[in-house]
Amino acid sequence: MIKARKIAKERYANELGRQAIYLRLVVPANASSTSPWVPTEDVEIEAFAGTFFSSSQSLTLRPENTAGVVRAYIEHKLWDRGLNKLYCIGPMFRRERPQKGRYRQFYQIDAEVIGPASAGSDSPARDAEILELLATLLDRLGIKDWTLQLNSIGCANDRAAYNEALRKALEPVKDKMCVDCQRRAVTNPLRVFDCKVPEDQPIIEKLPRISQFLDEPCRQHFDQVQAILKSVGVEFQLNDRLVRGLDYYTRTAFEFTHGALGAQNAILGGGRYDGLSEALGGPAAPGIGFAIGEDRLVMSLGESAEAVFRKPDVYIAPLGPGMNKEAARLARELRRHDIVVELGEESFRLKKSLEAASKLGSKYALIAGENELSTGVFALKNLATGEQKAVPRSDLAAIILANG
Ligand code: HAM
Repeated sequence: MIKARKIAKERYANELGRQAIYLRLVVPANASSTSPWVPTEDVEIEAFAGTFFSSSQSLTLRPENTAGVVRAYIEHKLWDRGLNKLYCIGPMFRRERPQKGRYRQFYQIDAEVIGPASAGSDSPARDAEILELLATLLDRLGIKDWTLQLNSIGCANDRAAYNEALRKALEPVKDKMCVDCQRRAVTNPLRVFDCKVPEDQPIIEKLPRISQFLDEPCRQHFDQVQAILKSVGVEFQLNDRLVRGLDYYTRTAFEFTHGALGAQNAILGGGRYDGLSEALGGPAAPGIGFAIGEDRLVMSLGESAEAVFRKPDVYIAPLGPGMNKEAARLARELRRHDIVVELGEESFRLKKSLEAASKLGSKYALIAGENELSTGVFALKNLATGEQKAVPRSDLAAIILANG
């Protein structure tokens, strides 16, 4: 998890989210009348709202960050800076029925690109760039067999027409569907596509699709996103059932899924939200972003986690009374060189220390006894080859690092 975060952060810090943004965990439930956080029927995401502490104000534990980032954009007039690339990492809270990969408290790595259209925020190049970065990130983490599911859910006008068509198409068949779908057919027909009930699937398969309702600018935007992805060799699957559980999305919507995760198979999800700033009372500010579910990311690392987590470079084995202190000093010296050190314990016999070092997968064991300290020359054992060398203290870091 830490390594995944580190790689993700490096990528965002360098290329995507150039700046970290820190948002509050507890926010007013009615921060705006159009707040996507206010739990409404058939918005898939329900927040923990209530009166917390002794405040009489109704508050919410944040269920996601995008709305918070957009509020910060408005409050701090971030449009002055052109295109903003922001990221934040932290816990989110949702009132959900817990199951594998779905928790009430979970962690997200969230990144958002937002700014005035004059800064290029609405360009399909942004969408493709984010998707390419994510594909590269997952590859770099050693996650195999991910699938990028891609859709365009059009703009507000497209969706109004589409919703109408869906309502009409559902009217004669809704009574044959599950209770949830019967309600969704009336309140928010798009949500019908989230239904997992097997008996409903043949009906859902025959419903009209958003792809038939995109206007020309939306269609062109989506075509260009796909063209760039093809040119950089990022594979994707078009999925016009992917409508996502938040109502602020426009145009590009996506998820990276992984077969090993089970029913909750999205490692991450995101999309465009070109009208959200205006809906929250701000200026026009097209944006696109995503959130990686860290818990699921770690689950999908599976066996490849071995390759991701850095094993100790050296295990320091203090030998005899009083040596813990000396070993700690050695550890401090080596850690300054970005060497991953595991510290043993002076009461351990050498055999036990070497076993512990091997078990942890350490490259070297460094023996720190009275003798070594008085001569300043240490026994450094390469645990893969069994070769042992006498190394002066001043050369230890270089030799350990040389074995990379
Ligand atoms: P989301 O699809 O609701 O999108 O969540 C993103 C990811 O968070 C999911 O793909 C999943 O990995 C993880 N996740 C969601 N709920 C849970 C849960 N209950 N337990 C464990 N993991 C979970 C958003 O949150 C949007 N704000 C993403 C975004 C950013 N769109 C634009 N910018």
